[in-house]
Amino acid sequence: MSLQGKRVILCVTGGIAAYKAAFLVRALTASGADVRVVMTPSAERFIGSQTLATLSGHPVARALFGDGGDVPHVELARTADLVVVAPATANALAKMALGISDDLFSATVLTAHCPIVVAPAMHTEMWEHPATRANVETLLARGVRLVGPASGPLSSGDTGPGRMSEPDEIADVAAAVAGAANDLAAKQVLVTAGGTQEPIDPVRFIGNRSSGLMGIEIAAEAARRGAKVTLVAGPTNVAIPRGIDVVKVRTAEEMRSAVFERAAAADVIVKAAAVADWRSDSHAGEKLKKAAGPPEIKLVATPDILAELGATPGARKPGSVLVGFAAETEPRPEKLVELAEEKRVTKGADAIVANDVSSDDSGFEVATNRAVIVSGGGAEDVGLVTKKALAAAVVDKIVSLLDA
Ligand code: CTP
Repeated sequence: MSLQGKRVILCVTGGIAAYKAAFLVRALTASGADVRVVMTPSAERFIGSQTLATLSGHPVARALFGDGGDVPHVELARTADLVVVAPATANALAKMALGISDDLFSATVLTAHCPIVVAPAMHTEMWEHPATRANVETLLARGVRLVGPASGPLSSGDTGPGRMSEPDEIADVAAAVAGAANDLAAKQVLVTAGGTQEPIDPVRFIGNRSSGLMGIEIAAEAARRGAKVTLVAGPTNVAIPRGIDVVKVRTAEEMRSAVFERAAAADVIVKAAAVADWRSDSHAGEKLKKAAGPPEIKLVATPDILAELGATPGARKPGSVLVGFAAETEPRPEKLVELAEEKRVTKGADAIVANDVSSDDSGFEVATNRAVIVSGGGAEDVGLVTKKALAAAVVDKIVSLLDA
């Protein structure tokens, strides 16, 4: 992996490890990056801006406000392929976690839409403080990539976790993250998300507990990695990131039409939606009155969109990848794999992501999932992770299936 042609914003915040920023600029530029350095006033106590300007070949940016009408943080953030914060002090992590934007570094990070890599450096006590732990958790859940800190001698004379990782290691992670950021470039990805609602009358429906979060995280991850993404979504309260085309549907039948209209153009189809398996065979035009007594509802099957896509190769682009989900009440990974493999074969999918919906921390209405990903090449047990992290693992699998 290299950083050839990538613009990297290196934010240097104020800790003794800032002196290593000189070597980091060298490592990033050696990998092909166009590096722009942002320094906080505290960072300048540890290393001269002239050093970093000379090594990067560009003036160091430090002020939130320019002399004219320019807005440096917006300009920097918009042109960045990657932001690296190294060293990231405890204060820098706290500002990032809270969205504070009172200097050029924090405003740039808050404006950036590209991937962010942070290399923390601080005394062990600060690193281990619950406040810092919570801030790091928040940043990880947002998809920020952490490098280090390493364990070893610290400037205070103590030894422990808190040393900034070596510049070459940070540059390697930066190259991997920036490379991954584009591995779906020029691909069309169609994702379904959320549950469908099958009407009984104008006010009542048959639905399920799907929030739509898993499918939306997959759509967001695919878009971050360069794909043109269309999301066919059942009713959801989850915010859908900018840059994704959204088609709103309600019933399984509407979802089927929306998917089949777009399937032939898609390089990848991910069916994360919890489609209702049954609908009422009749749909009252007016509200059913309570006084008339409980209605008898006859259920009929809805179309199985995934199985139909799998069984109709002509409906899809040759070489495209079809991924389904399987919601199972099964916490044992080896059993989940068996159930997933069965669904993969019967539905004609290239991969199935099977998640356990039986525990409180996995499946519906929570931010985490316990899942396995099963493809023709075998099974990957992803374990209990955030839905964002599972989305990244699913997209990694999709990229490897496309390459194959
Ligand atoms: N699916 C679909 N159309 C349906 C039902 C399901 O496209 N009418 C898709 C889902 O989007 C998911 C996969 O099929 O990708 C598996 O869904 P799941 O509910 O786990 O399985 P079912 O086929 O409904 O089987 P069962 O409920 O018996 O486990």
